[in-house]
Amino acid sequence: MKADVLLGLQWGDEGKGKIVDVLTPGYEVIARFQGGPNAGHSLEFNHRKFILHTIPSGVFRKDKLNIIGNGVVIDPAIFIDEIQALEREGVDLTDRLFISTKAHLILPTHRMLDAASEAAKGRSRIGSTLKGIGPAYMDKTGRNGLRVGDIIRSDFKKKYKTLTQKHADLLKMYRYKVDPGDYEKKWFEGLDMIRRFRLVESEYLINQWLENEKSILAEGAQGTLLDIDFGTYPYVTSSNTITAGALAGLGLAPSRVGKIKGIFKAYCTRVGSGPFPTELHDEDGEFLREKGHEFGATTGRPRRCGWLDLPALRYAIMLNGVTELIMTKPDVLTGLDTFRVCTHYRINGKETGNLPFSLEDPIEPVYKTFKGWSRDISGIRKYDDLPEELKNYKAFIEKETGIPVTLISVGSDREAVIGNGDR
Ligand code: GDP
Ligand code: IMO
Ligand code: MG
Repeated sequence: MKADVLLGLQWGDEGKGKIVDVLTPGYEVIARFQGGPNAGHSLEFNHRKFILHTIPSGVFRKDKLNIIGNGVVIDPAIFIDEIQALEREGVDLTDRLFISTKAHLILPTHRMLDAASEAAKGRSRIGSTLKGIGPAYMDKTGRNGLRVGDIIRSDFKKKYKTLTQKHADLLKMYRYKVDPGDYEKKWFEGLDMIRRFRLVESEYLINQWLENEKSILAEGAQGTLLDIDFGTYPYVTSSNTITAGALAGLGLAPSRVGKIKGIFKAYCTRVGSGPFPTELHDEDGEFLREKGHEFGATTGRPRRCGWLDLPALRYAIMLNGVTELIMTKPDVLTGLDTFRVCTHYRINGKETGNLPFSLEDPIEPVYKTFKGWSRDISGIRKYDDLPEELKNYKAFIEKETGIPVTLISVGSDREAVIGNGDR
């Protein structure tokens, strides 16, 4: 058996949480492979909305197994809140949440370092979620990090002290006042919570399960344009958000990867700083933000909105090896007389379909205009019932990318889908 992968093709918030929840009945295991509590994955059913940060989006489907992979960074203080919120909903994960012993921990001082580093950057700040993601991955690659497997060893406290002392020295350099306060207490309570779950060498588990024909869906966080190597560096996150990140973040060999499901919004959003060629600063942008409720699931910040960017989408499809596309939020376009799609960039007077070294250099997006539709599509469940204008839009994207759109989402609820995502 091969594991399928689902990941975001834009700047995050494409609707991964919702779609993983929709696809979970077709799988036995959902495995998060990178990122941490910078992610906010929303799920909606029975008129209730849930936001998950570290925990895979398969948890609301009974009996499904969930893994937090080695590529994820965990903040115990946030993890405990998530688990307790789920318990209040009657979701007991004791026997069905597995955590990799090799996943790294975000320490309270990592959050402080994130805040200090962002403050020091001034106007060129990344717009980080300030969850300590960058500093935690820095300690991972710098070979200083603490891992989940460390918390059940006798020398953990000593290791914790050594690392936090190192952080305190660094924070002094930033002239940042170190005061973990209540957060540290909660963090240690979170460690107790983590110890209640199955701490495993998840790479063995995953490969054994595949050997035993168990079906697995790997869930990404963030999006391809936030990838540490291929995103709009330095305005990116600190992990590989692409398919390669799923391999390293779970211990999967390339031959073990099956379908690669790339998810994109019918338009584009970005939260935080950094270039965004198709960004709208007019009433259309305001329309998308209001109608699409484009406010961050983790930070509440307003998301920047713009038209679909095909050069960026094709780039993401290439890097990930996407085998099928999933489109979300075309319902948000309802009511626009016309809407636009960027098909090429014009750079120094020349048209190109490729992304240049830096998207911060002057880029003029070349647009194609599409006719909109006015009738509400959020209740539609059959492809044939969609407006012709949306069918044309989908066909255009398929022609431009060469990849079929197998699922269309028309609302935030888990029922609001058209198609089966090829599963
Ligand atoms: P994620 O980070 O990729 O999981 O996405 P987020 O949860 O951060 O943001 C997606 C937002 O859009 C959430 O508020 C979802 O409830 C909502 N959403 C998902 N799919 C659709 C859709 O097809 N239509 C509409 N209108 N909202 C959607
Ligand atoms: P999900 O999984 C959207 C953005 C931040 C910032 C940059 C770096 O919900 O799609 P970080 O906290 O990683 O140092 O922030 O990346 N960012 C996201 N934007 N969705 C996310 O996750 C994001 N996670 C990080 O806004 O610009
Ligand atoms: Mg999100």
